Amino acid sequence: MYNSKITGLGYYVPDNVVTNDALSELMDTDDEWIQERTGIKERRHVVRGEDTTTTMGVKAAKIAIERAGINKDDIDFIVFATLSPDYYFPGPGVLVQRDLGLKTVGAVDIRNQCSGFVYAVSLADQYIKSGMYKNILVIGSELHSGGLDMTTRGRGVSVIFGDGAGAAILSREEDNSKGILSTHLHSEGQHAEELSLIAPGMGKRWVTDIIEDNDPDDESYFPYMNGQFVFKNAVVRFSEVIMEGLGANNLKPEDIDLLVPHQANLRISQFIQRKFRLGDDQVYNNIMKYGNTTAASIPIALTEAWEEGKVKEGDLVVLAAFGSGFTWGSVIIRW
Ligand code: UT7
Repeated sequence: MYNSKITGLGYYVPDNVVTNDALSELMDTDDEWIQERTGIKERRHVVRGEDTTTTMGVKAAKIAIERAGINKDDIDFIVFATLSPDYYFPGPGVLVQRDLGLKTVGAVDIRNQCSGFVYAVSLADQYIKSGMYKNILVIGSELHSGGLDMTTRGRGVSVIFGDGAGAAILSREEDNSKGILSTHLHSEGQHAEELSLIAPGMGKRWVTDIIEDNDPDDESYFPYMNGQFVFKNAVVRFSEVIMEGLGANNLKPEDIDLLVPHQANLRISQFIQRKFRLGDDQVYNNIMKYGNTTAASIPIALTEAWEEGKVKEGDLVVLAAFGSGFTWGSVIIRW
């Protein structure tokens, strides 16, 4: 049995900054409401035609590969997490294989929304632990802006989400006391529709229904979120899954050097920080700048934290996420 360790990190966000004031010109919202409820000051939106979920992922991946000090031909497998793929099918993993010019390695797409990166890391970790692969490219990338309802009707969701991508290289680590110590994953499909995008699908709203109805009031192809219900579940599940990960490794909250939570809402991060009595330097937040980038949020935040020198060798780093599904999970890393 091997461990896996993160040997390279990278992120990419589009240059186009969208402030809260800019959104208030499109819908009935304001900077004060958004900052007070979410902590978000601005987010990035792609300029249409300049970037896609895949191209952002590829840009982040190139940085991660270079920092890992490997050649692209050393990559044995691709795991791509997103809820906003370029195409309905095929998924973006194969587009990365093509656009990076990789060998014909396997590529898998993860559909776990805000928990996508944690699920992707967990999957990659198992392949490395088993000895099957040595270097795996893990990407989380999202292009939300092309699918949001930018009218007052959609304001409860549209002000929160932003575009961007993060990537990590997971490589074989022979020292079992280092690297990814454990991952912990959960789901509760009972609440699937509480944070969802129903159409297009092959369930309630077929593509043919949408074309035939051509109904401008059809909201089923915009994301829906029961905000307060999601918030209440998030704070409970985040706490549980962090404790589960720490407990599995005989660790306690005070052992955490850096917690990188999925950037869902600054108020959720602050609640967890208080609950675990962590200092400001023990929890990394950047939702203020990028909004919620779902599967991309943890790798973007982890990369920024690493660039700022906040992740050092020997540190205990904890990743945790909760989101649509509901799904949630944690990753415990000895850096
Ligand atoms: O990443 C996956 C996990 N996601 C989460 O964990 C998100 C969890 N939920 C949240 O972060 C919060 O619930 C939100 C930020 C989404 C919403 O905050 P809230 O404090 O729960 O607000 P609310 O939905 O209860 O809405 C309060 C009021 C409503 O008006 P009335 O009914 O009180 O008159 C909304 O219509 O705020 C109104 N509202 C807005 N007002 C200005 C909703 N969105 C906006 C807006 N600007 N953008």
